[in-house]
Amino acid sequence: LFTRIDHVAVVCADLDSVSRHYQRRYGFQPHHEESNASQGIRESVLRLPGDETGAYLQLLQPTRADSTVSRWLARRGPGLHHVAFATPDVDAAAARIARAGARLLFDPPRPASMGSRATFLHPGDSHGVLVELVT
Ligand code: CO
Repeated sequence: LFTRIDHVAVVCADLDSVSRHYQRRYGFQPHHEESNASQGIRESVLRLPGDETGAYLQLLQPTRADSTVSRWLARRGPGLHHVAFATPDVDAAAARIARAGARLLFDPPRPASMGSRATFLHPGDSHGVLVELVT
């Protein structure tokens, strides 16, 4: 079903300063930046140079007050947002998990960062963790 941990996402209010913190303190390197106007987020992707699994750290900053991530930040403060598991076929994986009773937040999966497609599982069906399935 899943092949590896794809990324861990952290929500913050100041993307640039949090990115510098992870780079200076922990040795992450900048890999990619993009904005998603429809989701109201800016994101920065960092990687550890020695990590051959390709897992990355995704820093998210809301770009408008009515975005989902903005509401998350207001309610919970900065911190861990979701964990993403890589799957070779997000549609098949999502369908299989939905048949087992989990709620999908996007059905069908939708375009996500760096050309991927993704959906999320409701945290209530994943022991309190917002889980992203990504291909
Ligand atoms: Co993600």
